[in-house]
Amino acid sequence: MIIQPRMRGFICTTAHPVGAAENVKQQINYVTSKGKIDGPKRVLVIGASTGFGLASRITSAFGSDASTIGVFFEKPPMEGKTASAGWYNTAAFEQEAAKAGLYAKSINGDAFSDEIKKQTLALIKEDLGQIDLVIYSLASPVRTHPKTGITHRSVLKPIGEKFTNNTVDFHNGNVSEVSIEPCSGDDIENTIIVMGGEDWQMWMDALKNENLLSEGAITVAYSYIGSSLTEAVYRNGTIGKAKDDLEATAFSISNSLAELNGKAYVSVNKALVTQASSAIPVIPLYISLLYKTMKTKGIHEGCIEQIQRLFQDRLFSGKEVPVDEKGRIRIDDWEMREDVQQEVEALWHQVTTENLSELGDLEGYRKEFYHLFGFDVAGVDYTKDTDEMVQIESIK
Ligand code: NAI
Repeated sequence: MIIQPRMRGFICTTAHPVGAAENVKQQINYVTSKGKIDGPKRVLVIGASTGFGLASRITSAFGSDASTIGVFFEKPPMEGKTASAGWYNTAAFEQEAAKAGLYAKSINGDAFSDEIKKQTLALIKEDLGQIDLVIYSLASPVRTHPKTGITHRSVLKPIGEKFTNNTVDFHNGNVSEVSIEPCSGDDIENTIIVMGGEDWQMWMDALKNENLLSEGAITVAYSYIGSSLTEAVYRNGTIGKAKDDLEATAFSISNSLAELNGKAYVSVNKALVTQASSAIPVIPLYISLLYKTMKTKGIHEGCIEQIQRLFQDRLFSGKEVPVDEKGRIRIDDWEMREDVQQEVEALWHQVTTENLSELGDLEGYRKEFYHLFGFDVAGVDYTKDTDEMVQIESIK
């Protein structure tokens, strides 16, 4: 079929397998160009199909020759209907891994469920024996709790009072004011249940109880802080409470891994265009001004550059892992640099629909958004008849 982008609100409902494969290859090339990392050899990535999780899988495999198991929740293709982007990303990743002689298997299903945990544990037992590194990179709006069966929904809202600020519709470049009502009822609790640390802890407990973690095993989950411009809706909002919970969970997981000399880390990453971040009001405008500023300064990074740096310079540099006063790894250091934040803030107060393309990197935002779904990728012929029924080798 001829596959074109089809937008519905903040998401694109189609994805292009050839574009997705090209994106994966580019990420692999980047990692290979940076040389070998003395990292772990058996890696489990939960949330492995897009964004930071995919970058973590690629960096593990192609930076450290690791065997990887990836867990994710993606839509397979049907005749005349494309798969979701993460499906095609994974199909391409597994192909490239096979060419390089690397073990890679994937599990598609709800990582919050007992069933998927059980399947993953069985696969580890059968194929890898133990795991040296667990990356926890889920971004989900809902979680059905495995013990109660209750489905919880997270919300992206400020706490206490209404928040009004500028935002952009990145499809048409319209900058406008948006007001977000404060959360109410059980919004905070629900957001913590979905995006906090409980499920991460459950995964680590399950792995440890079955003796599937190696001596010195480590686990890393991803968090975000960001600027004062977005803090009402992000770090001081409902999602920020969930991130506080996730960060606190690192300490309790570290305690339970102590007998293995293992450790849990949270890495605070940079704001990037992903499916998750495009859905948060105000953030896309912040990101387009941030991209412009960081590109001008020559310090812009995407998911793969962030994670490659996290692995090479922080986690597996051979030195002690540097952390901030709250025990977190900071790979958002360049985003949070004073000069960067000052410039973004100055632009924020000037930006309008008319001058956004000059002050901000709206074009870069849009391009990256299309890239997430395999569109607008250089060298791909989008007028060509394309097979949508691409399968993931290990799931066939
Ligand atoms: P993403 O949307 O690109 O990736 C989410 C992954 O989770 C995908 O592999 C998806 O299949 C998987 N997933 C979602 N629900 C699932 C479920 N029920 N079962 C199994 N897999 C499921 O998200 P992104 O942006 O890479 O986020 C990953 C983490 O990084 C999140 O914790 C996020 O808060 C954090 N982060 C994101 C930043 C950003 O700007 N995008 C910045 C800093 C941290």
